[in-house]
Amino acid sequence: MRGRMLLAALYCLLWSFQASVGQFPRACASSKNLMEKECCPKWRGDRSPCGQLSGRGSCQDVILSNAPSGPQFPFAGVDDRESWPSVFYNRTCQCFGNFMGFNCGDCKFGFGGRNCTERRLLVRRSIFDLSVPEKNKFLAYLTLAKHTTSPDYVIPIGTYGQMNNGSKPMFKDITIYDLFVWMHYYASRDTLLGGSEVWKNIDFAHEAPGFLPWHRVFLLLWEQEIQKLTGDENFTIPYWDWRDAENCDVCTDEYIGGRNPANPNLISPASVFSSWQIVCSRLDDYNSRQALCNGTPEGPLLRNPGNHDKARTPRLPSSEDVEFCLNLIHYDSGPMDKTANFSFRNTLEGFASPLTGIADAFRSSMHNGLHIYMNGTISQVQGSANDPLFLLHHAFVDSIFEQWFRRYHPPQEVYPEANAPIGHNRDFYMVPFIPLYRNGDFFISSRDLGYDYSYLQEPDPVFFQDYIKSYLEQASRIWPWLLGAALVGSVLTAVLGGLTTLLCRRKRGQLPEEKQPLLMENEDYHNLLYQSHL
Ligand SMILES: *[C@@H]1O[C@H](CO)[C@@H](O)[C@H](O)[C@H]1NC(C)=O
Ligand SMILES: *[C@@H]1O[C@H](CO)[C@@H](O)[C@H](O)[C@H]1NC(C)=O
Ligand SMILES: *[C@@H]1O[C@H](CO)[C@@H](O)[C@H](O)[C@H]1NC(C)=O
Ligand SMILES: *[C@@H]1O[C@H](CO)[C@@H](O)[C@H](O)[C@H]1NC(C)=O
Ligand SMILES: *[C@@H]1O[C@H](CO)[C@@H](O)[C@H](O)[C@H]1NC(C)=O
Ligand SMILES: *[C@@H]1O[C@H](CO)[C@@H](O)[C@H](O)[C@H]1NC(C)=O
Repeated sequence: MRGRMLLAALYCLLWSFQASVGQFPRACASSKNLMEKECCPKWRGDRSPCGQLSGRGSCQDVILSNAPSGPQFPFAGVDDRESWPSVFYNRTCQCFGNFMGFNCGDCKFGFGGRNCTERRLLVRRSIFDLSVPEKNKFLAYLTLAKHTTSPDYVIPIGTYGQMNNGSKPMFKDITIYDLFVWMHYYASRDTLLGGSEVWKNIDFAHEAPGFLPWHRVFLLLWEQEIQKLTGDENFTIPYWDWRDAENCDVCTDEYIGGRNPANPNLISPASVFSSWQIVCSRLDDYNSRQALCNGTPEGPLLRNPGNHDKARTPRLPSSEDVEFCLNLIHYDSGPMDKTANFSFRNTLEGFASPLTGIADAFRSSMHNGLHIYMNGTISQVQGSANDPLFLLHHAFVDSIFEQWFRRYHPPQEVYPEANAPIGHNRDFYMVPFIPLYRNGDFFISSRDLGYDYSYLQEPDPVFFQDYIKSYLEQASRIWPWLLGAALVGSVLTAVLGGLTTLLCRRKRGQLPEEKQPLLMENEDYHNLLYQSHL
């Protein structure tokens, strides 16, 4: 009885908020849309495409930059992600003023209110500074997102070619959390060249200047999606400040899950995350079938912090390492890929030493080092966003980008306009976001995007006090039954998970790549260049 009421309440909650953000808008996934290459959905407010009748935006041709890309990707016309989004669409909504979204139904980051006229500034705080109810609320939101189908977005489960150039659409529902896992996978996956051929030295979100703007948009969209899902317009992602950490101090059952006593590669059964199923982790399988990740559950979340290859990542980053990065004045340099020397981006990303700034193919430092250290699902690029630790980690990485930004106040021209690896030039649209966002548009201070980090805030005591007060009030109103929602969610997963495991156990053994090391040790430098390894 009580369970039913909770479920009913959960449904009401889901009904009352309409989410949007991210990948292929459901409204643009028909063969008509794909054949005409038009993605200009109606805004619900006035039922006109792009909210045109209300002056929100209009349907426009997509204009692509023709700046040349770097030499890293030697093909053309073989990957759906080239010249994003032109393989799929050549007309999309262009929104006016402070409006944003695939149908101009949202506000630009940093604006709110009915007509998007109110400025907003939200503050991301350390996860250790959250009160217990706030922290539980965060965990409940994650759980809710993991179990709620995205109302506005679907994922393609075939390439454009496999869809017969759009005449045979292949799309599938996905939950809100997994939509983001999928987006991260899709941006970093290999190019399928046909037969059993793939090209690995390509990544639209890593190993190049777009690394920081891409993850910035990704987190903003994630945050926005949670705000809509829960109606909690002030929600922000907490960060984990890992400077000088001696171990993974957020890896406890109170936070994102401790170690399973029975199996060190798994999450403790006392954590809600032990029941999570991962998606998009089996790259070798997709490559050998020339297929895309289709969102099918692929087993439990793996994590074994500290059990990693110590020769590759001897230690977690220190405060001095962060300071060294911040002293690098050049945003990116040379070939602007993972071999770049004295590049702020490459050193913070972790392909160059935080002691010298020189690229080192045998070490994973800084951002990469954290991923490797966790020795699990988060250690492989394509599937890494399956682990909620990804959010805490990347929020902190973004805060270092923000510190660098505030130190040098670089004009937008500092972000490379041309010759960056494919997809990473300043005016290129980031894969796979629809609506469209350019790399260069996020090379601005986070305050101009409506958010700040508590540890970087310049004192504004009145604002801050009000902020905390309302945050607490709001938390106390809404968390108890969100926690209930989380419980229902986890019970459901446990039951479903149990059933699936039983069925799957009968059907097949463990796939081979699950057993493979994610990071090979003895590869030569040349070889490493062609691996999507952190
Ligand atoms: C967009 O694509 C459609 C369908 O292929 C084509 O007919 C149209 O000419 C294209 N428009 C532009 C501006 O490229
Ligand atoms: C929003 O804009 C519309 C049209 O300009 C106007 O009629 C309405 O009063 C505005 N609403 C608010 C809350 O500002
Ligand atoms: C899809 O388009 C490409 C390029 O225009 C063409 O070569 C190919 O034959 C088309 N495939 C199908 C199945 O229509
Ligand atoms: C980076 O510096 C190292 C050591 O000086 C050098 O061998 C390498 O060629 C440099 N890489 C680039 C891309 O300039
Ligand atoms: C969000 O914060 C603002 C500013 O502190 C406050 O006015 C508003 O009521 C808050 N919204 C919710 C849903 O708590
Ligand atoms: C865990 O670390 C070991 C080396 O200590 C390595 O062989 C293995 O591939 C790593 N596993 C993952 C999932 O990162």
